[in-house]
Amino acid sequence: MTQYNQLPEPIRHLIDDNRNTYQNNEFSDLIREGGYVPPEENLLTDAITALSMGKNVLLKGPTGSGKTRFAETLSNLFNQPMFNVNCSVDLDAESLMGFKTLDYEDNRQIIDFVPGPVTNAMKNGTFLYIDEINMAKPETLPLINGVLDYRRTITNPFTEEIITAKDGFGVVAAINEGYVGTVPLNEALKNRFVVIDIPYLQGKQLKELIQNTSRLEDGRTIDLFVQLSEDLIQAVAQGKLAEDAASVRALIDACDLSAMIPPKRAIRRAIADKLDEDREKEFVMTMTETLFS
Ligand SMILES: Nc1ncnc2c1ncn2[C@@H]1O[C@H](COP(=O)(O)OP(=O)(O)OP(=O)(O)O)[C@@H](O)[C@H]1O
Ligand SMILES: [Mg+2]
Repeated sequence: MTQYNQLPEPIRHLIDDNRNTYQNNEFSDLIREGGYVPPEENLLTDAITALSMGKNVLLKGPTGSGKTRFAETLSNLFNQPMFNVNCSVDLDAESLMGFKTLDYEDNRQIIDFVPGPVTNAMKNGTFLYIDEINMAKPETLPLINGVLDYRRTITNPFTEEIITAKDGFGVVAAINEGYVGTVPLNEALKNRFVVIDIPYLQGKQLKELIQNTSRLEDGRTIDLFVQLSEDLIQAVAQGKLAEDAASVRALIDACDLSAMIPPKRAIRRAIADKLDEDREKEFVMTMTETLFS
C-alpha cells in the first residue's frame, strides 16, 4: 500500500472511515489494482475527499493520461469493487440497468432480471466507473441523473422497482473532451460532478513509471524516452500533432518494444504510424532521429 502511505494523514483518515470493510465480498474480484502516479499530489487527495463526501468525480484528460488507472486506484484505496459502464452510441437503458430474461424454476418458466452495472453498484453500495461518458447518446444518460444527485435513487424502467443506493456507492466517470465521436457533455450532467483535470505524467515521475512498469531497463534510453514525451506533449500543445501522439500508453508500448528492437522502429510502430497524417508521422520520426541518433 505504498500509495496509501504517501497520502497526507487527514486523507488517510478519510479513507479509513469510508473504506469498505467486507471480507470475501461476492464482488471482491472487482476491487481493482492501484498504481496511478499523480503528477500533483492534490489530484488524488481531491478525488478521495469528494468521493468520501458522496460526490461524483469526473476525470477529464487526453487519451492515455491515466484516467482509468486513476479510477482503479480509487477502487483499490477504498477497497471497493468497481462496476464498469463503457459508453458508446449503442449504450441504452438495458446496458445500464440490466435486462429481463426467461428462466426455469421447478419446471416453470419465470421472468428473471439480470442486473446491469448501475443496479449492481447501487444495490451493493460499491463504486461505478462510467468510461467515456461523452460518447453516449445525449438522451441515454439523463436516465441516471437521479442516481447522480443527492437522491441517489432511480426507478428501474424494466421492473418499476425503486432503487436507492446503499452506503458506499460512489461514481467516477471519465471524459476525453474533443475526441472524435464525443459530444459535449450535457450541462445538467456535468453539473453533478466534481471535475479533476488529469495531465500527462512528465519528467522524473514519468521516468520512474517507465522504470517500474516497462520492460525497458537501459537508463540512458529511458531518459531519451522521457525527453521524447516532453517534446511530443509540446508539439501537441502547439497543434502540430494530434492529441494521441502524446499518450503515455503509447509511450510505454514503445519503451516495451525497445527492450528488444531499436527504439526508432519501436517509436514508429507504437507512436508514429498510429497518426492519421503522413506529415505527423514524419514529424514524429524526425524528432526521433534527432534524439536517438
Ligand atoms: N499517471 C500515471 N500513473 C500510472 N500509470 C499511468 C499514468 N499515466 C498513464 N499511465 C499508464 O498508461 C496506460 C494508459 O492509462 P489509462 O488506460 O489509465 O489511460 P486513460 O486516460 O484511461 O486513456 P483513454 O482515454 O484512452 O481511456 C496504462 O498502462 C497506465 O498504467
Ligand atoms: Mg480509459
